[in-house]
Amino acid sequence: MTIYALGNKEPEIASSAFIHPQASVIGDVKIGKRVFIAPMVSIRGDRGPIVIGDETNVQDGVVIHSDPRLTPRIGKRVNIGHNASIHSEEICDNAAIGMGAVLMLGSKVSEGVLIGNCALLHNKTETEPYTVYAGVPAKKMRELGPNDPARKAIDIYVDSYVGNAEFYPNNLRIVDR
Ligand SMILES: CC(C)(COP(=O)(O)OP(=O)(O)OC[C@H]1O[C@@H](n2cnc3c(N)ncnc32)[C@H](O)[C@@H]1OP(=O)(O)O)[C@@H](O)C(=O)NCCC(=O)NCCS
Repeated sequence: MTIYALGNKEPEIASSAFIHPQASVIGDVKIGKRVFIAPMVSIRGDRGPIVIGDETNVQDGVVIHSDPRLTPRIGKRVNIGHNASIHSEEICDNAAIGMGAVLMLGSKVSEGVLIGNCALLHNKTETEPYTVYAGVPAKKMRELGPNDPARKAIDIYVDSYVGNAEFYPNNLRIVDR
């Protein structure tokens, strides 16, 4: 695994979290239980702390970077889609970040918010809980009621990645050719 201490800061990673060997985790980073970190993810806590809550998944190519002014806190059961760039201050529990979304420095994602694919979330945008934001810059599209199919789909998705965190450690192997 490419997990690096930086100076006196060393990542704290729950034993039930899975970090792919081709991901990079540097410095002041805390990773919770049953988190799944995919290949080519970069989590760089060199300018301040980064916290990732239990059962969150961070998919291929995602970049998460800290800043001396704010701590990127990512809540529990958050789904972060492929190639998203996270420079946000906070992503609350049960949120989902679409593929390729860019969360600008200091932006905040409220509980249960779905950020659409390729959205650009500005730091001045106040995201209301359980709503969808999409576009460049991201704007509110609609509410996400308790029975919204998107909400159920995100839940199923998060569960499948929790399953990955359990399955990968004993089943992923390099194939010699
Ligand atoms: C934003 C999103 C939730 C909208 O889904 P939806 O509510 O089913 O909306 P629809 O697909 O019916 O589209 C409604 C309108 O929004 C537009 N739209 C959809 N996705 C959009 C996006 N990402 N950015 C901008 N506009 C978008 C559609 O073109 C359509 O426009 P129209 O009314 O002018 O025709 C969905 O497209 C999305 O981006 N989901 C994220 C999925 C994801 O990345 N998950 C992580 C998996 S790894």
